[in-house]
Amino acid sequence: MAHAMKYFQTTFLFTLLVILFSGSPVHSENDVKECLSCHDKTYNRGIMKAYIHQPFLDKQCLTCHVERNDRNLHQSSRKSSSKRTKQKISWLQKHYEPAKTHFFLLPSDNIYEKLYVQIKGENNKSRVLSLPLPPIDKVSKLSNDGIKPRVSKIIFHGIKRGVLYSATISWETDKPSTAQILYGIGKFNKKSNLDTQLKTKHTISISPINPKKVYSYTVVSTDVHGNKTISQPMTFSASTPAVPLAAGNPARSASPDGKGLKYEIRALDNLYFVTITAPQPTHMGIGKNNDLRPRISIQAKDNGQEDKPATHVPLTNTRETNITACLKCHTDYQTESSHPIDVGPKPGMTFPDDYPVFDDGRMHCMTCHDAHSSRNEARIRRPTKQELCIGCHKSYG
Ligand code: HEC
Ligand code: HEC
Ligand code: HEC
Ligand code: HEC
Ligand code: HEC
Repeated sequence: MAHAMKYFQTTFLFTLLVILFSGSPVHSENDVKECLSCHDKTYNRGIMKAYIHQPFLDKQCLTCHVERNDRNLHQSSRKSSSKRTKQKISWLQKHYEPAKTHFFLLPSDNIYEKLYVQIKGENNKSRVLSLPLPPIDKVSKLSNDGIKPRVSKIIFHGIKRGVLYSATISWETDKPSTAQILYGIGKFNKKSNLDTQLKTKHTISISPINPKKVYSYTVVSTDVHGNKTISQPMTFSASTPAVPLAAGNPARSASPDGKGLKYEIRALDNLYFVTITAPQPTHMGIGKNNDLRPRISIQAKDNGQEDKPATHVPLTNTRETNITACLKCHTDYQTESSHPIDVGPKPGMTFPDDYPVFDDGRMHCMTCHDAHSSRNEARIRRPTKQELCIGCHKSYG
């Protein structure tokens, strides 16, 4: 318990700026013309290749690149009006499971001055509060205590019949950790999805399960430093006594003015580790405001207007461009049955340098696919699927 307290040692009350959340996308052809006036080479180069992504060909540049609420390109000055500020929040992470304490790991290179916290307010309306975000080098470091998460309260919640049989298991850890289950029949040759959201209460379902067999399993939790606990092996079968899964914590209104919310910000290398505790269990989202980005005048290399200073339209972050935007149209992409995304290399695996990944090393859609267009079918990064896979899975082929 002593070191769990560490995360809460220095908590601050923050004063809140309550903003209502609204926003309507604006999408106009003139905006795209504006993009192409500088990025014509990107477009012309793109359409020369054999396999062109339909929305690129159709010049739907804004869909993937421009903040939903920033689609009105007519830049107004930062302090123009509060109305504009209202629409500028772009959400980085949202947690839909109600909890009192939420943990977030955030990149430090593209968040400016403030963090925005969305909580579930009265009448299920969301409420947005802001807190100041100091530069990463001014934040005290979260040092590695070298202590593995302590796993407790491992509970078997039974086998359920859906399309396939699945089993659900929950447990708790004394510090924020990821969660995964290793399991199998007499051995541990299978693993569940890795839940990368940092939590202290974990619930994982595994499927498919054969209800006639006895399964062995262990639960695995890893903290932000990589300290990892693998529980003692246990077993379950259809006849193991099961505790029904509680309906879960209902999200309750955090107090209307956000009073009582506490937060702590620590630095983990170049990431912010943010802990926010509400007096009541609540959903929580965390976002940023790109309007606070320092204005840099960029030079239009694309069409040679090198000294033309310009203010660039705020672009979506890498997560939105490389995953979120894709899923808007490819709604049938199954993040579970398809290749995992948002995961880093497995132990012993290395990713080739020319496969792009997030700053923290996790893979996304564009790790395997070329953006815009490609010489390869399905716009994959290698001429054949096998060559693509071997880049990471050395044992394939
Ligand atoms: C006044 C010229 C200009 C306009 C208008 C413009 N851009 Fe850019 N943009 C640039 C320059 C210059 C760069 C930096 C060099 C580069 O990557 O080509 C850039 C960079 C980018 C990048 C890459 C950013 C990165 O971090 O790699 C994207 C994506 C982009 N612009 C998209 C757009 C979209 C979409 C529009 C239209 C909504 C647009 N741009 C309008 C000049 C412009
Ligand atoms: C389907 C989504 C999608 C569409 C539509 C799209 N892009 Fe991109 N674009 C990407 C992705 C993904 C990347 C690479 C990853 C990144 O920059 O984070 C990228 C990279 C870029 C870059 C930086 C690298 C480079 O190739 O120069 C520019 C500039 C750019 N896009 C401009 C455009 C323009 C202009 C349009 C419209 C004609 C457009 N994009 C349409 C997804 C898209
Ligand atoms: C605006 C909608 C839209 C968005 C956003 C979008 N796609 Fe697509 N995508 C399409 C359409 C339309 C096709 C063509 C489908 C077909 O031919 O059946 C396609 C096809 C593809 C294909 C098959 C190969 C090809 O080029 O035809 C891949 C791979 C793909 N998309 C990946 C992505 C990725 C990765 C992203 C995110 C960067 C993304 N898509 C974002 C609409 C979209
Ligand atoms: C591990 C590599 C890998 C990742 C990651 C990946 N894809 Fe693919 N994707 C492929 C390959 C390979 C194909 C070619 C089809 C095949 O043989 O499976 C493909 C095909 C597609 C297609 C064409 C239609 C289809 O299903 O055959 C779409 C659309 C697509 N991917 C979208 C996405 C989106 C969206 C993401 C991110 C959410 C993504 N892909 C992530 C490797 C990947
Ligand atoms: C960028 C590197 C990368 C590429 C390319 C890649 N994979 Fe993977 N793959 C991974 C990682 C990382 C995991 C483990 C995810 C996790 O931790 O659960 C994985 C997991 C898998 C799994 C789940 C079983 C296991 O080994 O954990 C299968 C199956 C798989 N990949 C197949 C493929 C195929 C087929 C291709 C080519 C289309 C491919 N992968 C391309 C990185 C990659």
